[in-house]
Amino acid sequence: MLALARHARSGALVLVRAPLLCRKDFSRTGNTRMQQRLQRLWRSKDEQWQFFRQWLRHPLSTAAISPSGPHLARSMVAEIQIGARRVIELGAGTGAMTRAILAQGIEPDDLLALELNPDLCRYLEGAFPQVKVICADARELAKALDACGYAQGGLADAVVSSLGLLSMPRTLQHDILKASFDCLNPGGRFIQFTYGPTCPVPRDVLDALDLHVLRGRTVLRNVPPATVFVFSRNRSRAIVPRSIR
Ligand SMILES: C[S@@+](CC[C@H](N)C(=O)[O-])C[C@H]1O[C@@H](n2cnc3c(N)ncnc32)[C@H](O)[C@@H]1O
Repeated sequence: MLALARHARSGALVLVRAPLLCRKDFSRTGNTRMQQRLQRLWRSKDEQWQFFRQWLRHPLSTAAISPSGPHLARSMVAEIQIGARRVIELGAGTGAMTRAILAQGIEPDDLLALELNPDLCRYLEGAFPQVKVICADARELAKALDACGYAQGGLADAVVSSLGLLSMPRTLQHDILKASFDCLNPGGRFIQFTYGPTCPVPRDVLDALDLHVLRGRTVLRNVPPATVFVFSRNRSRAIVPRSIR
């Protein structure tokens, strides 16, 4: 291997043949402290850093380089219906929404946080020991709820999703929405944010599942700015009261 070195007498930089640099060589060149700092940072439990690290490893599924900010988290949980008790979170990441859902008054026992990435699941278990954290794919929601016993408590009132729906193929969007509405009670809501200005789910997917969507707040104080959308089932004609037919 070739390396740059300073010539002893002239002081000029010259190319020399050198053995591969190993940890010991770094220590001789005084780089150990820098290496130790980098290793400490890599192992750090800091939320922003953990998130960024997972984005480096899985950019597509992580879908963002930093966790959602508190303004976006508050706008999401503001859409949970008054009186809602049981909430499922999809794509919990490092817990930005989990924290806001608990702050909204949902009991830890009634919250289930689902996350695909096992490293993030371990992080969540450490940060929220009182919340049920499940490491699974959102498409397999029903199976996951059965396996952990959450399903035995009945259907959920709301799903709070931070999944990157916008970058998912339609079939995957369809499967995740279907799995979610199968676990929601008839008046249940699926609450989602997206970084684009429009609804991340195309009309044909909504029609296939008989859903409608309402636009919530746009949160500029988030990096990047995001908009909240709330999905609900279309009311069946069979249950529309006579008075409003
Ligand atoms: C944009 S991040 C949101 C994280 C966090 N809720 C927040 O708002 O800061 C999306 C998260 O969804 C997870 N995820 C992606 N696809 C998933 C899937 N199919 N099932 C469950 N979680 C998934 C990713 O691992 C990532 O943690």
